[in-house]
Amino acid sequence: MKPVLKDSTILITGASSGMGNEIAKRLAVDARQIILVARNTKKLDELASELNIINPALQVHTKPCDLADKNKLAALIIAIKQEQSKQQLGNIDILINGAGIAQIGFLNETDFHDIENIIKINVLALSALTHAFLPTMIKNNRGGILNFSSFFGLKILPAYAAYAGSKHFVTGFSDTLRAETAGSNVVISTVFPGPVHSPFWNVDNADIYSPPGFLFISLKQCVTQTLKGFKRGKARIIPGLRIKLLVAFLNVSPEPIVRLVNAGISRFMQSKRKKTLQTKISNITI
Ligand SMILES: NC(=O)c1ccc[n+]([C@@H]2O[C@H](COP(=O)([O-])OP(=O)(O)OC[C@H]3O[C@@H](n4cnc5c(N)ncnc54)[C@H](OP(=O)(O)O)[C@@H]3O)[C@@H](O)[C@H]2O)c1
Repeated sequence: MKPVLKDSTILITGASSGMGNEIAKRLAVDARQIILVARNTKKLDELASELNIINPALQVHTKPCDLADKNKLAALIIAIKQEQSKQQLGNIDILINGAGIAQIGFLNETDFHDIENIIKINVLALSALTHAFLPTMIKNNRGGILNFSSFFGLKILPAYAAYAGSKHFVTGFSDTLRAETAGSNVVISTVFPGPVHSPFWNVDNADIYSPPGFLFISLKQCVTQTLKGFKRGKARIIPGLRIKLLVAFLNVSPEPIVRLVNAGISRFMQSKRKKTLQTKISNITI
């Protein structure tokens, strides 16, 4: 089954930057209404203007919201439903759960607040929005949801415990909903990007623990492959050949070996962190 994008009402979270922003531009041509969600009002307004240049007939609604705040998240859902009942907004045909944050670092160097935030945005907001809008899609037998998981929703790496945990939730949640909606015209797709050049990596410790450069792909490549898979109604989309091969390789690798390799990576990362901190301290002293 393929999601119907023509004349659809599309809700995109994480629209102020990175992949959500690019997806909005690509889908603007077909959509009738687009609802843009993120915290940065200015960036949402700029995007809205750009979308209206791409498609002057498109109705763009910006809904600034801190998805980590459960009251604001609830208010967003209520506001959309109220506008729908007044016919100011159509039913959500397509939901793109793009908003997501990273937290990088070993647990003993991580604030619990950061772990909480990851769960609020990557897990709770994604499930709340899905829970709010999927039932109408099922009732109308029309719609599609694209959830952003990650390589870390399939595999793990030291220094990404909370992030990997949150993305494994997205994977299990989405795969299960895919099974629950099987046989209907509602498409649930999940995308599993490896590292992608985007502001996502502008977080503490990325310089120490980010994956090797050769695994990174461009944002445009990631979005092109993601939308290609979503438009075809694929269950799982893994953009980028190298990440696809890595996942395939890890899938057939014996678990004890993978654990040994991860233990080695962990030791390597810890010694890299020690050296980086020592360099920083000696630079301050000088
Ligand atoms: N880039 C990668 O390497 C990579 C790899 C695998 C998976 N992913 C996943 O892909 C998705 C998109 O990532 P990206 O690379 O496009 O990242 P990005 O450029 O950092 O964009 C993240 C988006 O999430 C929004 N967001 C963050 N915190 C929010 C909050 N509290 N409330 C509302 N919106 C919030 C941001 O908007 P505001 O700051 O304006 O709120 C922004 O629009 C994420 O789910 C990420 O986990 C990314």
